[in-house]
Amino acid sequence: MNAPFVYYSLALDLGGFEVTSNEWSSFMNIAYRYVEALSNRNSATFFPFIDWWSHQASTADLLRPVQFPDVLPSNANMSSHPSVLHIEGDFTSMHHGLPPSETKYDIVVTLFFIDTARNLMSYFETIRKSLKDGGTWINLGPLLYGSAPFLQLSLDEIIDVCEGLGFEFLDTDPKCGELTLNGKKARGTTVPYGLSERSLSKNAYKAQFWVARKTKNGV
Ligand SMILES: C[S@@+](CC[C@H](N)C(=O)[O-])C[C@H]1O[C@@H](n2cnc3c(N)ncnc32)[C@H](O)[C@@H]1O
Repeated sequence: MNAPFVYYSLALDLGGFEVTSNEWSSFMNIAYRYVEALSNRNSATFFPFIDWWSHQASTADLLRPVQFPDVLPSNANMSSHPSVLHIEGDFTSMHHGLPPSETKYDIVVTLFFIDTARNLMSYFETIRKSLKDGGTWINLGPLLYGSAPFLQLSLDEIIDVCEGLGFEFLDTDPKCGELTLNGKKARGTTVPYGLSERSLSKNAYKAQFWVARKTKNGV
């Protein structure tokens, strides 16, 4: 499932979370719609390595099937209430026209996402606007900037800018990685991305993890 980030609203009466996810790419959304329509776990099979000739240890690895979905979006929190609302479209404008009461969340999770921004500032502002006061932003991902955005901030600049916007970076568990910079609270953790664990090559990011709280300070 390829949703770049998810919003969580605590729904204590449901004993879980109400989740809103978002994805802009039509290709990803077609795949999401397909997965969403599946009603049984591990009911579909595909062969992700079949055309990937490099770095194979054996033909069996090349032909290895993978079953999905591992989790059904429609009942991810084991409740009969649909737990995931998926919104197709651009992150920065997905809530345009809706009243703030419907677009404020307890938690925003950005997963391998912030470096896709054309304009990083608009992502940070959208995350901030989407959170209730005291709400939490959790990030995990690299600073790849693969789509050549206007602004390509380094980690220390991101932290400084976000503190200026009113985010307080919180202490996190050392098991989430080592602190990347002295005096800053982001942690680096090695995350393999898009590869078979049996491949003869490895591609991994030192993805940055942080947890930040929205304060009333800032712009
Ligand atoms: C690197 S992928 C990460 C996807 C997923 N979270 C994961 O970890 O596998 C980034 C995703 O963000 C999506 N994306 C890029 N810009 C976006 C935008 N403005 N609004 C919503 N989604 C966007 C891309 O289409 C892509 O699917």
